[in-house]
Amino acid sequence: MPASFLLGLCAGLAFARAHARRDAAKRRNDENDENDRDGDGDGDGDGERRPVVVYMDGCFDTMHYGHANALRQARACGDKLLVGVVNDEEILRCKGPPVCDARERADAVRACKWVDGVIEDVPYEVTDAFTDELFAKYGVDFVVHGDDPCLAPDGSDAYAYPKRVGKYREIKRTEGVSTTDIVGRLLRLGARAMGEEVEEEEKEATFCTTSSRVAQFLGNNAPPAEDARVVYVHGAFDVFNTGHVEILREAQKLGDFVLVGVHADADVRARRGAAHPVLNEKERALGVLACRYADEVVIGAPAKITNDLLTTFNVSVVVAEDEDPYEIAGEDANAVAAARGLYRRVPRAREWSALSVAARVMENRAAFEARNARKTKSEAAYYAQKTHVKES
Ligand code: CTP
Repeated sequence: MPASFLLGLCAGLAFARAHARRDAAKRRNDENDENDRDGDGDGDGDGERRPVVVYMDGCFDTMHYGHANALRQARACGDKLLVGVVNDEEILRCKGPPVCDARERADAVRACKWVDGVIEDVPYEVTDAFTDELFAKYGVDFVVHGDDPCLAPDGSDAYAYPKRVGKYREIKRTEGVSTTDIVGRLLRLGARAMGEEVEEEEKEATFCTTSSRVAQFLGNNAPPAEDARVVYVHGAFDVFNTGHVEILREAQKLGDFVLVGVHADADVRARRGAAHPVLNEKERALGVLACRYADEVVIGAPAKITNDLLTTFNVSVVVAEDEDPYEIAGEDANAVAAARGLYRRVPRAREWSALSVAARVMENRAAFEARNARKTKSEAAYYAQKTHVKES
């Protein structure tokens, strides 16, 4: 598909939906309030002990496992986690253009398994008035943010008020991943898709996937029961976002346990081209594991379904991420599942691919390149002077 077509398509869609989304966001926030009949902030009105409510806000653009890990740590600070998602205008004013619009960002946050509720359309600066509203209306006990400084455009501390009144907690920022880093990778992918020569990135990879990180992301997910109907969904799951959330949600309706096969890097590269995947298989697996609709992942799963895989995992249904079946060495990747009557195709609810998101970035290329140049410099300065900080 020509890149210019993708650019035009993305721009048109984003424009037409912006206003309707702001109204819908307000309606969803109001519905939360109406359901909270006992006013304890938990949105249900059952009169039980009031849980400790934690609030974290942010842009959550191109939601990644660093954001998910922040939400995981924030949730561990209390009983309930409310997340404020900053609106598009505020992000544009304070940080530059977002890649994903407010609705997509809110949906991605809502799908994260550590999130109990989302407040859409919040301001970037946590003003006194908004903080009071968080305490009074939503019963928030603590405001939580990563240990990186968060400054308003005038240079002031965006969390000054909750800090002053002793209602602020800090969690450790996850190193080695950021929206800046992902946008950089998308810029390179987009440039390659447009036929440009792109030099390899020189930056050292800083994220290390440890076994405890994988265990943390698995959380309380239980293994499948003996008679569980296991649904196997497989694909690249690159730059995890709302399109992936939708297919996992659909998969969950087909059984009791969703097992996700995250294809190995080499397979994704073979199928989609040398510039793929944007995120490596361990990063992609963490993105999937943070989703409330996934129970377990196979990291580096084979792209082609085998009888052995179906038997090992006791699979009852196979769902493929791509709407159109794909071939590997001239053979349908799902042929074995189809022959056993297990293959189901779920229509794709939202168009989402690494290439389409790269096209969005290329549409605003100058702005993203300028912002990335700025942020890459400050990130490099941070990594050059960093000292050890223990994660909570
Ligand atoms: N966060 C984190 N680790 C990361 C990235 C973000 O812990 N690698 C935390 C931030 O500290 C914040 C929350 O996630 O508490 C939301 O961050 P966000 O507002 O989306 O933006 P940034 O901090 O700028 O992060 P990024 O550039 O990755 O979007």
